[in-house]
Amino acid sequence: MKIESLKLINFRNYERLEINFHSILNLIYGKNGSGKTNLVEAIYVLGLTRSFRNASDKTLIYDGKDVSKIEGKIVHKSMNLFTVLLSKDGKKVKVNDHKVSKISEYISKLPIILFHPDDLRFIKDTPSTRRKTLNISISLLNLDYLKVLNQYNVLLKQRNAYLKSMMINNRNSSDYLDILTSKLVDSGLYIYECRMKFITNINHYLKSFYESISGKEDLVIRYFSDYEGKTKEEILELYQKMIQKDLSFGKTNIGVHTDDLRFFQDGKDLKDYGSEGQQKNAIISYKFSELELFKVKNGSYPIFILDDLFSELDEEKVHNILKLLPQDIQTFITTTNLALFPSLDSFEYKSIAVKDGKIVREDVHERRK
Ligand SMILES: Nc1ncnc2c1ncn2[C@@H]1O[C@H](COP(=O)(O)OP(=O)(O)OP(=O)(O)O)[C@@H](O)[C@H]1O
Ligand SMILES: [Mg+2]
Repeated sequence: MKIESLKLINFRNYERLEINFHSILNLIYGKNGSGKTNLVEAIYVLGLTRSFRNASDKTLIYDGKDVSKIEGKIVHKSMNLFTVLLSKDGKKVKVNDHKVSKISEYISKLPIILFHPDDLRFIKDTPSTRRKTLNISISLLNLDYLKVLNQYNVLLKQRNAYLKSMMINNRNSSDYLDILTSKLVDSGLYIYECRMKFITNINHYLKSFYESISGKEDLVIRYFSDYEGKTKEEILELYQKMIQKDLSFGKTNIGVHTDDLRFFQDGKDLKDYGSEGQQKNAIISYKFSELELFKVKNGSYPIFILDDLFSELDEEKVHNILKLLPQDIQTFITTTNLALFPSLDSFEYKSIAVKDGKIVREDVHERRK
């Protein structure tokens, strides 16, 4: 999967932009606030129709304009033109000028894996942030996962609302509650199994990537779930035991909506013990592992974006990470500091200089080693 070219109209600080990309490595450089992240954000929005920056569609449109257009030529077996149109009235997506009415159908066509400095939240933040990231990772590999997750969330809301009504009416058993619980557990078990399988598979790669980047080999993700090692019957018993607490809180206290996962290095939780650098290395190892899982499932790599990854890493780490990039993947890297990249001699790549929402220089570099 590669992006051959990109055209932007009124996206963020780009009023107009047309650019051809290198099929392997694109290095986007420029000062703070010049538009580097905006450019990779445009690629991300082209693939996923929404930003990774928790931004509303309105903030993506150039200030004062009404409509924004992102258009990219994507090569994957054949060439296809992808378009995302953003406006105050919502968004439209097209492939080869044909409107795609289902966004979920569109977003499976242009898979992207991204590193962004905020991703450190995957380690540092709350379980809910970690579940969100995990959900995005799994849905990239399994299209049914999001559907079941939505079902689960609907059932959870219904169950919580019903618990509240039971509490008001002073009841502590109900056939309807049993039906809701049983359905919730069915969806929950599917989600549990997907998460367990995904984490087991990620762990298969994680160690060796972490070793290559940091020199330490022991990194593992542990998954924590109320459903762990239990049959449906055993889980239903748990809900039975919990019923008084559920009723008094008016909410469901156990289930996959309380799952968590943690990164452990040498038996210690990186959330509590890890340095910023170790946490960053763990996240980047996770991203590389995701790439491999995607390749195993789909036969080719997704597009890989590394936004501001290298800012606080030393030269040796930069070198170690670049060495890990697979041959047949298209990567986009942003940096404020081109001097950090001496090791790029062994790559063929394009450097792209950005200033105030414009491309001011493009150079294709031959491999020198
Ligand atoms: N909707 C918009 N319309 C016009 N300009 C915008 C819009 N949204 C953001 N900008 C501008 O884009 C610039 C930020 O761009 P971007 O985040 O890409 O910077 P960057 O090059 O990645 O910087 P850094 O090195 O700090 O990460 C800011 O100057 C901001 O004002
Ligand atoms: Mg940036």
